[in-house]
Amino acid sequence: MWKARLSELEFDETELNSALDAIDSGWITAGPKTQAFEEAFARLSGTTEAVAVCNGTAALMLALKSLGIGSGDEVLCPSLTFVATAAAIIHCGATPVLVDICSLQDPTMDPADAESKVTSRTKALLPVHYAGIPADMHAIVRLANARGLSIVEDAAHAPGAKFAGRACGSWSDAGCFSFFGNKNITTAEGGMITTSDPELARRMRLLRSHGMTANSWDREQGRPAHYDVLEFGFNYRFDDIRAAIGLAQLAKLEKFNKRRQEIVDRYNQLFTESETDLILPFASMPKDKEPSCHIYPILFPTSEERDSAEKMLRENGIQTSIHYRPIHDFKAFKEIQQNVHLPITEAFAARELTLPLYPSMTDPQIDTIVSAVVQCRLRAV
Ligand SMILES: Cc1ncc(COP(=O)(O)O)c(C=O)c1O
Repeated sequence: MWKARLSELEFDETELNSALDAIDSGWITAGPKTQAFEEAFARLSGTTEAVAVCNGTAALMLALKSLGIGSGDEVLCPSLTFVATAAAIIHCGATPVLVDICSLQDPTMDPADAESKVTSRTKALLPVHYAGIPADMHAIVRLANARGLSIVEDAAHAPGAKFAGRACGSWSDAGCFSFFGNKNITTAEGGMITTSDPELARRMRLLRSHGMTANSWDREQGRPAHYDVLEFGFNYRFDDIRAAIGLAQLAKLEKFNKRRQEIVDRYNQLFTESETDLILPFASMPKDKEPSCHIYPILFPTSEERDSAEKMLRENGIQTSIHYRPIHDFKAFKEIQQNVHLPITEAFAARELTLPLYPSMTDPQIDTIVSAVVQCRLRAV
């Protein structure tokens, strides 16, 4: 049905063989392959530890819980994000305080707006590397240090992205990644938390599996059958079949992200040459930001023009999406907090359309998509 989907699964025989190998090994729950995946991901991130979990939402929950975030606490996060960011804060018993983005060109959390919203109840900052564009971690770390706050990075879009030469996910107490099917690397469902704090890693590993002092793999290794439960935790465990797929995907991440950047560059170049009135957030990337190009957002002059472009592209077999309807616009959020206004987020969300982006996209596909969008603009003026 689609000539170009928003994203495509980038699997070949390496993922298949890797998964078969895990099944053949006779051990499919968390064991040696999960440990190897964690170690490889920590190396990529430049952190001392990585903790694999069942999805990115569980990663956020586990990071916040393990940092002691709970009832009565406030956590600052952008409203321009997937609902999981705020839901994780709510499920810890804390309150998400929503922050505006920097500008239409830079859709990451505005550190100045965050600073103005810090109260005596604020415990943590939760920036999102939207689209794989690193947030301004220098300003965010400065603010956290000045006010004694923890930082959790929502790096669901950002494996392999860097800010000032340092990996996203390594700038904070904990970096949270997602390996959902549409992400830069995928294990179908899956997540990872990176940290260089050994005590936090220990607590996350404990709470990941019901607060138990030993797991099945430990017992398989010949450790005693007895265990204690130190505190009530969760089942957020990962497994060795998905870890095997993750290792195969991780080996391709650099190549994938390089191709994603080439596609973004081609989009930017063609749109710029066409002299459209679109805003292209990826076209003015500061030197200190090396994005992972997870999605390609463009902004139309108005919401109506965005909607008619979406319709026309769909009729032409080009799948698009909107990232995101802001969290403060959702019914569930309005029931807990009203009258939140974030003008730049609202303008961005009203005008944003996400175009297809995945490593195996061809140049002719990109050219077709750009021509279709330019046609929409010509019709509109
Ligand atoms: C920004 C962001 N945060 C968190 C998540 C949650 O990840 P998962 O779907 O793996 O639970 C996602 C996934 O779509 C996301 O895009």
